[in-house]
Amino acid sequence: MEMFTSRSPEDTMRCAETFAEGLKPGDVVALTGDLGAGKTAFVKGIVRKICGDAQVTSPTYTLVNQYDGDTTVYHFDVYRLEDPDPDSLDWVDEYLFGDGVCVIEWAENIEAVLPADTVRVEILKDPDKGDNFREIKIC
Ligand SMILES: Nc1ncnc2c1ncn2[C@@H]1O[C@H](COP(=O)(O)OP(=O)(O)OP(=O)(O)O)[C@@H](O)[C@H]1O
Ligand SMILES: [Mg+2]
Repeated sequence: MEMFTSRSPEDTMRCAETFAEGLKPGDVVALTGDLGAGKTAFVKGIVRKICGDAQVTSPTYTLVNQYDGDTTVYHFDVYRLEDPDPDSLDWVDEYLFGDGVCVIEWAENIEAVLPADTVRVEILKDPDKGDNFREIKIC
């Protein structure tokens, strides 16, 4: 496991950019952390690295956004898919086992369909250390 400390949204994006250097086509990244932890900020860093400057907004209603770059990045936000029937997630396989990089916010909601080699990124707040402090755990 690797741990990083972030003290600003930009810090989190930079951490994600460095992390993205190690990503390759077909990788799946599961992002977990509370509301406002910085999952979307982390995705912004990944997209910035792989796709150049892109306007990243969370696909809360569409479930998935696509960013074209050296490798296509698929950005999922499955917050609204609480406790889904695994059969209803068949469409997700196409992405998860495809050639893009998949980055999934609230990935715990679709745990049952995640590939075994999914990379886990957890972003944790620590109120004792201030509003902007985040711990980023990658394994
Ligand atoms: N160190 C930090 N890293 C990331 N975001 C931070 C940090 N410090 C403060 N913030 C703030 O926390 C919020 C993070 O928002 P973001 O949308 O990235 O969270 P999220 O985990 O995607 O939330 P949601 O579960 O609603 O999708 C932003 O308002 C950002 O300015
Ligand atoms: Mg988000």
